Amino acid sequence: MSESDFTPRDSFGSRFGIIAAAAGSAVGLGNIWRFPYVVGENGGGAFLLVYLIFIIAIGLPVMLSEFTIGRKAQRNAIGSFRKLSPGTPWYFVGMMGVAAAFLILSFYSAVAGWTLEYVFKSVTNAFAGTDETGLNLMFGTFIAGTWRPLFWQLIFMVLTAWIVAAGIKKGIEKYTKVLMPVLVLMIIILCIRSVTLPGAGEGLAFLFRPDFSALSADAFLSALGQAFFSLSLGMGTLITYGSYIGKKENLPGTVVQVSAADTIIALMAGIAIFPAVFAFGIDPGEGPGLVFITLPNIFLQMPGGYYFALIFFVLLAIAALTSSISVLEVVVAYFVEELRLTRKMATVFAAVMITVLGVFCTLSFGIMSDVSIFGMDFFNLMEFTASDLLLPLGGFFIVMFVGWYLGSASSRKEISNEGAYKLAYFPIFMFLVRFVAPVAIALVFIYGLGLLRL
Ligand code: PHE
Repeated sequence: MSESDFTPRDSFGSRFGIIAAAAGSAVGLGNIWRFPYVVGENGGGAFLLVYLIFIIAIGLPVMLSEFTIGRKAQRNAIGSFRKLSPGTPWYFVGMMGVAAAFLILSFYSAVAGWTLEYVFKSVTNAFAGTDETGLNLMFGTFIAGTWRPLFWQLIFMVLTAWIVAAGIKKGIEKYTKVLMPVLVLMIIILCIRSVTLPGAGEGLAFLFRPDFSALSADAFLSALGQAFFSLSLGMGTLITYGSYIGKKENLPGTVVQVSAADTIIALMAGIAIFPAVFAFGIDPGEGPGLVFITLPNIFLQMPGGYYFALIFFVLLAIAALTSSISVLEVVVAYFVEELRLTRKMATVFAAVMITVLGVFCTLSFGIMSDVSIFGMDFFNLMEFTASDLLLPLGGFFIVMFVGWYLGSASSRKEISNEGAYKLAYFPIFMFLVRFVAPVAIALVFIYGLGLLRL
């Protein structure tokens, strides 16, 4: 099969478009919904510190490795490994990624559906006149329902599929460029309101003062899983996006900008949420409902809260959408290039399968809440298996592939754009992908899964 058998690949249109799309993938529910509640469940400051170390020592090298693989191979997650290492089993890493995409989008679309319900609630002014107890009840009753959460999940999947079917340049690239900056502005306003609430200091202390006695063994695994999830790593999303990046673009620069944006937005979400959590006497370990209960409460305390609530939830839904399309794209790119389906067919096919899986996630808060597999409900099982197991495992193999299989010369050629950049820090990158990242991931796994207790 020759190169000309392929129709020209779609690609990103501009440098800013790449950043917007990659940051759009990274910044999503992972930052605003998942980060605060995972920090809350794991005791605050000390967990945050571990998370930040993982972002730098593991996240950055994995991200650069994914871009390198994708741009070098110009293929989907599985095809990239097949092309760069023909006749070897490495493509298995890509298959794991495609599997992870199914699991992630099944629970992601459930939560994204909740954000749509909260857009609706904002429009109809449903928060007015309630308090913490009321908001708690409102959230609990909604997610325990059947048709309402399913309806929103379906709408969300249709939106995701519709954009992915449209392709790269004319799809979300156009929208993300405008909408992401507005989201940042909204979070800044929320931060200001939150830190000026009476009693806010306790929340900031919870987030920023490390209490190492609160760190359990599985906190390390959760921090690693969150780092991968938040940066969209370990499952080929950024291999796939990397394959749409032009050969003249600066890969390391993109990596730094995307990771910095992602981390800053997660921190800002924490600063917006924890002061409010403590000011309103909410339990920080509340779990997946944390933002849906805390934020409406802040809006109630603000002049113009009606509008802020509305704008915020609309943007949150959009942030979710720019991430979910990047997850679906992993599957669709694979179906199109390897199974030779048309883009439309591939999208419909993938979206339908994921939605079916997603129904179980949604119902696990309601009529299926008694069903438990390995001691977890379906939602938790998908979330744990994908973020805490498959993503770090995928990341492990990705850095091993770049560090040991592709090797120094070949990686350097791709990352430096055939020598156009000097890359003084390249040996540090190689050291991270060869030793630091794989050993760290392996240790966290062994320790976090309880195979070894220190
Ligand atoms: N990074 C996204 C978020 O934080 C979720 C995601 C995970 C997207 C994995 C793609 C791949 O919301």
